[in-house]
Amino acid sequence: MPAELIKAFELITPIPYAVITSLDAKGKPNAMGASWVTRTSIEPVLMLVSIDHSRYTHEGIEKNKEYVINYLTPEQTKAGWICGSESGRNGNKIKKAGLELIPSTTIKTPTIKDAQVALECKVVSTHETGDHTLFIGEVVAATINPQKTKHLYYTSDNRLIGMDEKGD
Ligand SMILES: Cc1cc2nc3c(=O)[nH]c(=O)nc-3n(C[C@H](O)[C@H](O)[C@H](O)COP(=O)(O)O)c2cc1C
Repeated sequence: MPAELIKAFELITPIPYAVITSLDAKGKPNAMGASWVTRTSIEPVLMLVSIDHSRYTHEGIEKNKEYVINYLTPEQTKAGWICGSESGRNGNKIKKAGLELIPSTTIKTPTIKDAQVALECKVVSTHETGDHTLFIGEVVAATINPQKTKHLYYTSDNRLIGMDEKGD
């Protein structure tokens, strides 16, 4: 990528960082860090996650057609980083990260315990976009943890930080 584009993308940080839980082909849970996540429709309520073809998560979502978008808190920074830097293909990173999973309310894919917000999504369509796939998910349930006020963002100097809605 040209240097000015690298700089341009640095300048538009911080950006929210979520951890996407999914099930693999055998039904084993996995968790992957993602910043390319956004709302894309109000009615129905749709989100998109953009997943590189090479990710283990890609295989899992393609097979099971569901995922959970978990917004982790500052206390979960280290765990969040492990989810974004190691592949579930090579071992159990959820265990390594010390994350606990809890049943979701409507889908088989579990939610991360103590996340600030967790959005349960069922895939309604997929779109190929360069080297990533957009998995468009209808949000079928949301879990909110009222004690948690902050979630993680990714910064230009390659860190995860916790911020609230006012940017503090
Ligand atoms: C800050 C940050 C943001 C990321 N955003 C995405 C993303 O939006 N889409 C993606 O495919 N990978 C993204 N990744 C990379 C994956 O989290 C990483 O490759 C992970 O190891 C994939 O795990 P898996 O193979 O278990 O699915 C991001 C990583 C970091 C650190």
